[in-house]
Amino acid sequence: MILVVGATGQLGSLVVRELRGQGRQVRAMVRDPASAQDLAETGAELVTADLRRPETLDAALADVQAVVATANVVAPTRPGDTSDALDAGYRDLVARCTSRGVRRFVMASVPAGDLDGSVPVARTKRRLERLLGDSGLSFASLRLPPFTEVWLALVGSSLPLRDEQRPNLGRPYRFLRGFRRLTGSSVERHGVMIVPGTASARHAFISIHDVARLLAAAVDREAVSGAVDVGGPEVLSWTDVSAVFADVLGRRVRVVSVPGAVFAAAQRVLAPVAPSVSDIMGLDRLMASMRTDWDTAEVAARLGVGGLRTVEQVLREKAALETVG
Ligand SMILES: NC(=O)c1ccc[n+]([C@@H]2O[C@H](COP(=O)([O-])OP(=O)(O)OC[C@H]3O[C@@H](n4cnc5c(N)ncnc54)[C@H](OP(=O)(O)O)[C@@H]3O)[C@@H](O)[C@H]2O)c1
Repeated sequence: MILVVGATGQLGSLVVRELRGQGRQVRAMVRDPASAQDLAETGAELVTADLRRPETLDAALADVQAVVATANVVAPTRPGDTSDALDAGYRDLVARCTSRGVRRFVMASVPAGDLDGSVPVARTKRRLERLLGDSGLSFASLRLPPFTEVWLALVGSSLPLRDEQRPNLGRPYRFLRGFRRLTGSSVERHGVMIVPGTASARHAFISIHDVARLLAAAVDREAVSGAVDVGGPEVLSWTDVSAVFADVLGRRVRVVSVPGAVFAAAQRVLAPVAPSVSDIMGLDRLMASMRTDWDTAEVAARLGVGGLRTVEQVLREKAALETVG
């Protein structure tokens, strides 16, 4: 049995579907089963549990050999969904995995860098990686670049979200909803892409569907172990991405870049009054500082996953959906 922690998320639900598609026994950990019928329909077992309620975790872990963890609080939906509470929950989960003899723990992570201590999402990942390293569990932490379907939407396009189920940008979190209303289709409408950091920053953008395949593969491929960088099939700058958008949409697209210092200031100012929004500013600050110009084809090959999709492939597939639908 494989437990997916964060199963109602955009990536988490794709991991459930991927593993079920392989015929694996999957338990989807959810906080509200009534909202997870689509996951039950895949044949996954639902268990009601919450990282913030340690008393629920033993039932979730019964007969579990492997855990895939994607749960995060970037777009929190419940009061008290803070990164500190999440960290405490993960600490408890790892302790229980160790005492119950869980064989393997796989997690979705972010690249390591100078902001690890000051950006909550990165701090959470580093803490969890350290806990796993100290636990003696066999684990793989896939440190991932920006997801094509998420970040190409965040910079101002609705195209990447087309046909995506459970998009995290659609979660009922007020700040994100307001932000999307303002900027959600600025690429299509005004030919403007608003990016964190410089337009020349280069990333190995990866499709979230490919990430789900990689995480599912890491459950069995224990040769991939510890924290590893994994990216998509090509490295593009934001300027390159704007050119792909321009080709696909048939219109000029320019990049407007917001310096990391703006996000750092917003993170600091908002921390006492709107902590979750401050965390999002931290995430943008991280993104502005990050470069993921990696060639990780060898890691994907070791995981046995090929055919990773380029940004252009993803956007062209999405654009074709419009003409069909
Ligand atoms: N987006 C990127 O470009 C990028 C890049 C690198 C790495 N990553 C990582 O990839 C993953 C993305 O996951 P995603 O798309 O599935 O996220 P998501 O759509 O934002 O979903 C968040 C998930 O976490 C769950 N969760 C939050 N608090 C919980 C708790 N206390 N107990 C149990 N579950 C809890 C949520 O449950 P509810 O639905 O009940 O709230 C939901 O299932 C994250 O780990 C992220 O850090 C993302």
